[in-house]
Amino acid sequence: MTAEEIRAALEELRRSDLPTAGGRTLAYVYDSGLAEADALGREALAAYGGTNGLDPTAFPSLLAMESDLVGMAADLLSGPPGTVGTVTSGGTESLLLAVQTARDARPDVARPAMVLPTSAHASFHKAAHYFGVRPVFVDVDPTTGRAAAPAMADAITADTVVVVASAPSYAHGVVDPVPEIAAAAAARGVRCHVDACIGGWLLPYLRRDEPGRRPFAFDVPGVTSVSVDLHKYAYTPKGVSVLLHRTAELRRPQFFASAAWPGYTMLNSTLQSTKSGGPLAAAWAVTRFIGDDGYATLARQVRDGVAALVAGIEGVEHLRLLFPPESSLVALTADAAVDVFTVADELLSRGWYAQPQLRFGPFPASLHLSVSAATVPRLPEFLDALRSSVIAAAAAGPVTVDPQLTAALTSLDPGTLDDAGFDTLLQLAGLAGPDGPALPRRMALVNALLDVAPLAVREALLRGFLDRVSRPKRA
Ligand SMILES: Cc1ncc(COP(=O)(O)O)c(C=O)c1O
Repeated sequence: MTAEEIRAALEELRRSDLPTAGGRTLAYVYDSGLAEADALGREALAAYGGTNGLDPTAFPSLLAMESDLVGMAADLLSGPPGTVGTVTSGGTESLLLAVQTARDARPDVARPAMVLPTSAHASFHKAAHYFGVRPVFVDVDPTTGRAAAPAMADAITADTVVVVASAPSYAHGVVDPVPEIAAAAAARGVRCHVDACIGGWLLPYLRRDEPGRRPFAFDVPGVTSVSVDLHKYAYTPKGVSVLLHRTAELRRPQFFASAAWPGYTMLNSTLQSTKSGGPLAAAWAVTRFIGDDGYATLARQVRDGVAALVAGIEGVEHLRLLFPPESSLVALTADAAVDVFTVADELLSRGWYAQPQLRFGPFPASLHLSVSAATVPRLPEFLDALRSSVIAAAAAGPVTVDPQLTAALTSLDPGTLDDAGFDTLLQLAGLAGPDGPALPRRMALVNALLDVAPLAVREALLRGFLDRVSRPKRA
């Protein structure tokens, strides 16, 4: 292909994606609305895309920029002198490393466990799965959505290597009682990780204006590590998070070195070994450009936007907030007359993306909205779209899943879902295409199917789906 053809093809491919700028995508992307910051980020990403963070002696620029970013994060999150950190590829990698480090710090524990609220991010489940750490889930308080600190304290045993809190939780946007949870962990000599992946670059700015907000980071005694993603509310290009530890000693088990092979001595601070310096350089550029005052302004913009959004949602018949938002995240649900997944489809047809969340425990199906600074000026437009989407969803009525299909889903043994079984389910649901799943433009039925399925069946269906859509099409 010629360069021109490739550029045209790339542009054409992007047309099927959600927009990453403009503030109409209320999950997955975080948009400052600052065109020059975005341009600088892209320039740095391209300029450093070929550098390799594998060896800091070969690319000392990356170590210098990492040190600056870690310092900035430590300042923001009240890290005491001696706080150290690592730039990782994202929230999931930061959480994986926090769990791996906690596990490896306790070689004396034969069957390591972690205590976490049921609202904690699914990345912790992945960490448990990858690193053989038993997750001990503690139900959240159903009235506040927050972790129940006394129950978490009771769940700590001699096997517990880390206790987890979120600031805030992704699904419900509420901040866990970090002081109580960290105190319980510290009393048992156990690490406490605060997942501030989504709130860590925003809540500190909000606290400056509202000192009544509770502390959640290193100013809380007993917090041993904190994660914060720069590719969320620091508005940097994707691929950057920071994992901070209160001391270098706490971080040490995170590092991996191997000299037991004939090649270069391998020395890694993260799961990746060869890693592009592009995202790190982009984050360095964007954070320096926006700066502390800039972030304070963006945080206020988001706070005021969330307040306006809440007021707007409260005025829409059939809708209610799941919990009062404590940061930039809003979770809304609907009464029986309206299917929230249909609302998501209707919003999408009006150019807005809201993220469906399936029912879980005592919590109904809901829609998640991550409010970016760029969304705020467009909120009146969003609220209009939301109102008309709800009217359309009410007119369409509830989505019903065929009882035969519901029975098949609820009785399915997820361990035995093979290719043929998956095909049968696709056919029953009317989702079979010539090359695998034919996803409809409207997703309400697919979401309704997942919503009635038990958790393990949901997971089996999702894995089956990914398997099917990620098989290459070859001539
Ligand atoms: C609280 C929290 N933790 C962890 C993550 C995972 O981050 P990532 O998607 O960057 O891996 C997210 C993502 O939204 C999050 O909100």
